Amino acid sequence: MTPLAPRPVRASHVALTELMIPSYANFGGKVHGGVLLRLMDQIAYASAARHAGTYCVTVSVDGAFFRAPVEVGELVTLRASVNWVGRTSLVVGIRVDSENVTSGEVKHTNTSFFTMVAKNEKGEPQAVPPLLLETRDEVRRYLEALTRRDIKARYEHALDDANSALAVHTDLDRLVGQRCVLGSDVQRELGVSA
Ligand SMILES: CC(C)(COP(=O)(O)OP(=O)(O)OC[C@H]1O[C@@H](n2cnc3c(N)ncnc32)[C@H](O)[C@@H]1OP(=O)(O)O)[C@@H](O)C(=O)NCCC(=O)NCCS
Repeated sequence: MTPLAPRPVRASHVALTELMIPSYANFGGKVHGGVLLRLMDQIAYASAARHAGTYCVTVSVDGAFFRAPVEVGELVTLRASVNWVGRTSLVVGIRVDSENVTSGEVKHTNTSFFTMVAKNEKGEPQAVPPLLLETRDEVRRYLEALTRRDIKARYEHALDDANSALAVHTDLDRLVGQRCVLGSDVQRELGVSA
């Protein structure tokens, strides 16, 4: 099979701007986190599909932490590009900024990383082109993605070990000082008293 030609990061740059309308508000009057997640998923798809040249699906999301609320009436801009590629997977980095259009104040609401997988017509994972890094920032983002992968693999491994070592009966003392109480049925089942 002919090796795929590298594609530059710039080919996957996508920007998306949307006005936050009243129907996007939650009961507290701020924009629903889910509205931003939907926009992030859309731009992640567009960026990944541009690089891969095929349909892509979302596999996981890292860093979906909102630093500041987004208000109705603000103009939200998302910028995305491919940061890292594996064989069939890609990581798209997304920066979200929100602008108060009357004052001009811009706040950075979050930066997240979507892992996407390219698929062929049969729905099987398909190889993506290597990534051509042309700037220092692109090299830095690639290296940061490698660091996140390493840390995530170690974290997932440690979590699996911790969960398989967990025994509800013998770990009950860990609930001391926690803001939870045991219902009477579960107390009886576990043989403990309040
Ligand atoms: C993710 C998915 C493609 C993996 O399929 P699979 O048959 O296990 O394929 P593979 O094991 O070959 O993995 C394919 C790639 O996904 C990556 N992958 C799989 N699980 C992953 C995870 N939890 N996190 C990050 N990457 C993952 C693999 O590392 C591999 O990447 P690489 O080719 O760059 O090394 C498959 O589980 C899937 O289609 N999930 C549903 C995705 C979807 O529909 N999303 C929309 C939700 S509505």
